[in-house]
Amino acid sequence: MNRIIANNPIGVFDSGVGGLSILRAMRAQMPEEAVIYFGDQGHVPYGPRPMEQIQNFSETITRFLLARGAKLIVVACNAASAAALKFLRAKFPDVSFVGMEPAVKPAAEHTHSGVVGVLATPATFQGALYASVVERFASGVQVLQDTCPGLVAQIEKCDLNGPRTREILERALTPMLEKGIDTVVLGCTHYPFVIPLIQQIAGENVRVIDPAPSVARQVQRLLEAWDMKRPAGGHGEIQFFTSDDARTMESMLPILLGESGVATRVCWKNDLNVEIE
Ligand code: DGL
Repeated sequence: MNRIIANNPIGVFDSGVGGLSILRAMRAQMPEEAVIYFGDQGHVPYGPRPMEQIQNFSETITRFLLARGAKLIVVACNAASAAALKFLRAKFPDVSFVGMEPAVKPAAEHTHSGVVGVLATPATFQGALYASVVERFASGVQVLQDTCPGLVAQIEKCDLNGPRTREILERALTPMLEKGIDTVVLGCTHYPFVIPLIQQIAGENVRVIDPAPSVARQVQRLLEAWDMKRPAGGHGEIQFFTSDDARTMESMLPILLGESGVATRVCWKNDLNVEIE
């Protein structure tokens, strides 16, 4: 085993706190791994932004994480995966990336009603990745979509079950329920934090697919395959970085991640450069 690389941290990034849903699953699966988490809260939401801008942000963050020794990078954001995963793999051919794609395949395999709902942001629905999973895996299944405008902002405020958050989800889910969905795919990493509310609105018979555990397993498989896994035992350190207020991010960690941590603010100098303030 290459001990130097194995002891290096895993880099994880998202437009904000959504990637903490992936990090939470990674912690449950492999608590020994050290992690650098970057939440680009100065630019959240990514969903409505042009692809090229999301690519620029993703490239800058990737450079930041690699400069801090990241041995593998988890693009814990569907919007960034849709807009930039292919671009990042071409730009950094020696780096291993794990990205997100909406879990349409398991939804299509398990639906009884033949109707499934996907909740994601506009960038995810516009990307070629989404079109390709629907085309490959959902033939014969009706796939309904909603962008849940405003939901990412509510979750960034840690409002996980207030009236406004409920209203956004009811508006998205009610027409889908009327058409007979029995499965909801969460195509945005912010959304697992509102699963209890989704379940309340949709009822316990509707299955909600949270991709986080399978992404964590994929990270573990890759680390093992590349001989980059830290030996089991102990708790790896997590360093948090945000492009907005560090104290605000810190206050959200116990609620969303289930552990506390210290966050550092970075400031966006120009397109391809972020610095610690
Ligand atoms: N959490 C992200 C995703 O998975 C991004 C949401 C956003 O910034 O629009 O798509």
